[in-house]
Amino acid sequence: MSRWRAELVQTAFEARQFPEPKFPEIALAGRSNVGKSSLLNALIDQKIAHISSKPGKTRSINFFEVASGGSPFTLVDLPGYGFASRSKKEQDQWRKLIEKYVSSRQNLSLVIHLVDFRHGLLKNDVELQEWISALGVPMLTVFTKVDKIARGKRKGELHKYIKSGLKSVDVPILTSTEGKLGIDELRTFISAYLEE
Ligand code: GTP
Ligand code: MG
Repeated sequence: MSRWRAELVQTAFEARQFPEPKFPEIALAGRSNVGKSSLLNALIDQKIAHISSKPGKTRSINFFEVASGGSPFTLVDLPGYGFASRSKKEQDQWRKLIEKYVSSRQNLSLVIHLVDFRHGLLKNDVELQEWISALGVPMLTVFTKVDKIARGKRKGELHKYIKSGLKSVDVPILTSTEGKLGIDELRTFISAYLEE
């Protein structure tokens, strides 16, 4: 597979800053600190999305245009939700921004919902899944930080999570940006999904 090259084209703190829809969009959503920006950097093999060990790093919606071997598309890094130590007002602002984006964006093809493999879906993850599927937006569940779970336990954990009722267009992908696990698999999934 040819290498993906990405460029940050827009940072939006409010809906009027969203760029004109241009290419199909794939958005990364999930709780604060789950690894959205890290996974985006791993996918494009460039360090352009900002990462922090402190939750609440990404406060805006960031649009990255990607040139791949196939048709171009846009990866969208969303701010995280569920970060309790931010003020209620700030949390509400982010939630509204994410809701506005997901509910109004005509060129949104897929939401990749990132979930920490150690914790599974927490209450606000379940709420997000229900809300997105009610909007009719396709969603793929991707587990992150899989390196934190022993190899021998991974299959069992995955089955447990699947059984608990995930809303995902396909079998969830297990990823780790530390061990570079599942990154190629996710790239292949995205390319194939966009070709459909
Ligand atoms: P917000 O922007 O705050 O919503 O966070 P985010 O979801 O973008 O998370 P980010 O990529 O900033 O990563 C948060 C922390 O998790 C950082 O310290 C990363 O180094 C770490 N991290 C991300 N992915 C992995 C992984 O696969 N394995 C391990 N062990 N740590 C990871
Ligand atoms: Mg981030």
